[in-house]
Amino acid sequence: MASTTRHVLVTGGAGYIGSHTLVELLAVSQSGPIKYVPVILDNLSNSCEGNDEAARIPESVKRVGELASWDPIFHQVDLCDIDAVRQVFSKYPFHSVIHFAGLKAVGESVAKPLRYYQVNLIGAMNLMQVMDEFNVRNIIFSSSATVYGTPEKLPIPEDHPVGNCTNPYGMTKFMIEKFLMDQCKAKPDFNAVILRYFNPVGAHSSGRIGEDPRGAPNNLMPYITQVAIGRRPFLSVFGSDYDTTDGTGVRDYIHVVDLANGHVAALKLFEREKPVGCAVYNLGTGQGCSVLEMVTAMREASKVEIAYKVVDRRAGDVASVYGDPSKAAEELGFKATKTLKDMCEDSWRWQQQNPQGFNCS
Ligand code: NAD
Ligand code: UFG
Repeated sequence: MASTTRHVLVTGGAGYIGSHTLVELLAVSQSGPIKYVPVILDNLSNSCEGNDEAARIPESVKRVGELASWDPIFHQVDLCDIDAVRQVFSKYPFHSVIHFAGLKAVGESVAKPLRYYQVNLIGAMNLMQVMDEFNVRNIIFSSSATVYGTPEKLPIPEDHPVGNCTNPYGMTKFMIEKFLMDQCKAKPDFNAVILRYFNPVGAHSSGRIGEDPRGAPNNLMPYITQVAIGRRPFLSVFGSDYDTTDGTGVRDYIHVVDLANGHVAALKLFEREKPVGCAVYNLGTGQGCSVLEMVTAMREASKVEIAYKVVDRRAGDVASVYGDPSKAAEELGFKATKTLKDMCEDSWRWQQQNPQGFNCS
């Protein structure tokens, strides 16, 4: 069977979700009719430079190369530098872009709003501008359930009101969604798939790649695994008086490998004859899990007692957030298959094998 080659620009491909998506993309290339050629663009602001001085390939990407028997194509470029972005576009006949790159820490975005608006918005606008110049018509964008703000109903469907975000990070996601929607209206052959992630957790089952937060983790799962490995004395549980089954916050955790496969499913939309236009999908499991349920699941996976203390609620948190995943199932054929046990076992394997993460020099 003749294969079709597709060059895909993966911005932020050295990061947590990007690196897992590369593995899945390369796996379908080996078995399917489309050969994807990923080209990674990342400024390494939140990922680890290669430990090998000779090759400047980031450590995560190097490990993806080992897992997928692939020679990485990597460009250390900042999306805010439009001429450098143009240079990358001039080298490859891109068919599509998966846009992961950006800043993502909610708390930091409240403290440094200008930095978040600058990096996320200017980065996205430069990318769209250069796509336009080089006539690249297909983009998948990493959005977030944060655009829904406080849910008016559960599970949250894609047509839930958006934009009532409680922090600048969320506002950047909402605004980039709007840029993409407007561009789709203006250019009938421009296609954008907006993926609203719920809470990505877990790691590749090899334990070779995973989430590697800098400093103290903001998110629940990496915090729990760092307590389990002994890097932190206890987990602070932010509030136990929410209106949920056990009083702690409920979220829709999705395994990062499932999430990665959601991107592969979304890319296939661009192969259809009918233009996609602008399409929005939730990527989650549709199941809520509380903080204490996660602590129990991790204790079972790691066989380590997880010390925790209940403290005050965290500002800006809501009781329960979980999505309706049915649109992605119907239109993308995407369904998350991994369980809470898989999420904990894989996160724990990654943490145990890499107690200091990628061990950036
Ligand atoms: P990550 O920080 O691990 O990866 C992002 C990558 O982008 C990093 O490697 C970083 O170096 C790079 N980057 C940042 N700014 C850049 C710039 N200006 N130019 C080039 N590269 C740049 O984050 P992640 O968890 O993999 O998230 C990927 C995307 O998914 C982000 O857009 C994030 O906002 C979104 N998202 C993440 C979560 C989550 O919980 N992880 C949830 C919802 C949405
Ligand atoms: N939590 C704790 N202790 C911690 C960390 C978190 O109790 O040390 C609790 C939170 O209060 C919340 C739950 O664990 O109830 C999940 O918190 P996370 O910080 O892991 O995740 P959030 O749902 O707050 O936010 C995450 C990302 C956002 C993204 C959103 C999408 O940080 O960027 O998921 O739903 F937008």
